[in-house]
Amino acid sequence: MKRAIYPGTFDPITNGHLDIVKRSLKIFDHLTILIAEHHDKETLFTPEERKELIQIATADIENVDVEIWEGLIAEYVNTHQVDAVIRGMRALSDFEYEFQMGMMNRKLSPNIEIIYFFPDEKYVFLSSSILKEIAFFDGNISDFVPEEIGKRLKKRINEKLRDSG
Ligand code: COA
Repeated sequence: MKRAIYPGTFDPITNGHLDIVKRSLKIFDHLTILIAEHHDKETLFTPEERKELIQIATADIENVDVEIWEGLIAEYVNTHQVDAVIRGMRALSDFEYEFQMGMMNRKLSPNIEIIYFFPDEKYVFLSSSILKEIAFFDGNISDFVPEEIGKRLKKRINEKLRDSG
């Protein structure tokens, strides 16, 4: 059984991420979506909330689970049965960052294999930040996230706006 992990911040998961999940499952028997932390990223949702959002978004996809991981990706790979790490590559601008991170991950975990998928062209310009920006200004995000995720995103943004007076 071939198992892969798909690490990321997922704040929140988008249709672009889901597109990568579905592509990965054409090749792998099982995929773990791994909520990891980027040391200098502030998030709108807690890891537990992001986990719940991913579970909602992937409810109709088989052979997927979600885990929260607080350490290095290389450490996860070194201590679990993982055949590959999946990352999405949206544009040339992603390449340099992915290359650096991929090389460092390989240094930390020499047996790691990292596979990059191109998303559907509908999502090449999508990111969680740009999605939050559109939601913040009450724009239409229905093409970019599952309905329930969109609702919860708008709700969270409204709560934040209310809290900040
Ligand atoms: N569709 C839509 N958006 C996508 C996407 C896709 N297919 N692929 C990437 N993105 C977006 C994400 O939404 C995110 O947007 P944002 O920056 O606006 O939040 C951005 O691209 C980057 O994506 P993400 O995949 O979440 O990567 P990241 O750079 O936020 O985090 C980790 C990368 C979490 C995997 C990395 O920090 C990590 O490995 N952390 C654990 C510690 C570690 O091992 N560090 C590496 C040492 S070498």
